[in-house]
Amino acid sequence: MAIVRWTDVPEIYWQMPMLKILAIAWATIALVAPDAVAQDAKRLEQIVTQDCGSCHGLTRKGGLGRPITPQALADADPEAIAGIILDGVPGTAMPPWRPLITEDEALWMANYLKGGKHK
Ligand code: HEC
Repeated sequence: MAIVRWTDVPEIYWQMPMLKILAIAWATIALVAPDAVAQDAKRLEQIVTQDCGSCHGLTRKGGLGRPITPQALADADPEAIAGIILDGVPGTAMPPWRPLITEDEALWMANYLKGGKHK
């Protein structure tokens, strides 16, 4: 039964501002986060095109480095690709990118390469 006792009132009053704070927090995240993600994606896309492209080719079909097209990476899992990106391939020209990008960003890049948004 929905009887509101006086002892419930302070709790309701306490919860209301809390809910408002949560609502504001979520709204802020919803507004800011997609933008941050979009900016990050843009930065990573630029690294792939400019930096990776300098060795793997602008179209990623290979150059000094092997092709890193979706076809070439079809059988590689994203974690393995991310590992190569982070640590490079010792003894070859493939440099480690760990100083420049996070593990999450490397994984994003791996999926991006596999997804082949740019052919
Ligand atoms: C200085 C040149 C250079 C740059 C810059 C470079 N790579 Fe490489 N990369 C290579 C070379 C050379 C290899 C081949 C290593 C080998 O012989 O196994 C390679 C290998 C790879 C491989 C493994 C391919 C396979 O089939 O095993 C991936 C994935 C890769 N690079 C991704 C990247 C990404 C992503 C970037 C940019 C963040 C990048 N590379 C930047 C030179 C480069």
